[in-house]
Amino acid sequence: MKSTTRSLRALKGVRPIVCLTAYDAVTARIAAEGGADLLLVGDSVGNTVLGMPDTVGVTMDMMIHHTAAVARTKPEALIVGDLPFALAHDNFSKLLGYGRRFLQDGGAQAVKIEGGATLAPAIAKLVDAGIPVMGHIGLLPQRVHSTGYRRRGLTPEDQIRLLADAVAVAEAGAFALVVECVDEAFMPAITAAVGIPTIGIGSGKGCDGQILVLHDLLGLTPTPPPFVRPEANLHRDAVAAVRRWARKVRARKSR
Ligand code: KIV
Repeated sequence: MKSTTRSLRALKGVRPIVCLTAYDAVTARIAAEGGADLLLVGDSVGNTVLGMPDTVGVTMDMMIHHTAAVARTKPEALIVGDLPFALAHDNFSKLLGYGRRFLQDGGAQAVKIEGGATLAPAIAKLVDAGIPVMGHIGLLPQRVHSTGYRRRGLTPEDQIRLLADAVAVAEAGAFALVVECVDEAFMPAITAAVGIPTIGIGSGKGCDGQILVLHDLLGLTPTPPPFVRPEANLHRDAVAAVRRWARKVRARKSR
């Protein structure tokens, strides 16, 4: 059965929610057949498959191109498109346009937005316009040039900020909240403070679900983040397969 924002929201406190990134039809089929409840077309497509140093260079056109490829596989998992760098701070008519493009041209069912309390009014207006929003707080990769990639929630002051962000985004109507690289000991406090599922990445077990970049999980990225334990080494296996075939071609044993 197709996952919806409502069905995923209803899983809080019932069972953990499984989320993975997907950037094209191949990875969408792998993640969906593997049992993911939610496919995030993350702007991590930039550094994971497009050869960029980070997510800052990713554009709406790129995101729609990749989201549409995922949507063509018609997965039962909910498809969420990631709003690229800084666009959440545009005026509302532009923001509404980005949301429309994700749902109408990309075939997504929701949009993810990086940012906390300051974006709550914009999130509330999008939700009011019928565009489901997934929040994203904690480490914000789009802010690499302002804050860097740093673990969050390590001081009482930062914990207060994170709780305020989580509550503001939830109260604005987000249906779920990604919480990235927050101190494991503090994470349960965020999960308890909001009525929507928290989806952790590098934030320990105290979340209502987990998300990973599929390429990290499958061993396709050369240096996955330290919190990932890859379940396969597909880069190594693929190189070995190519080497075997190359040997056969050179020995004239393959057509
Ligand atoms: O872009 C992305 O893949 C993400 C996840 C890491 C949560 O935002």
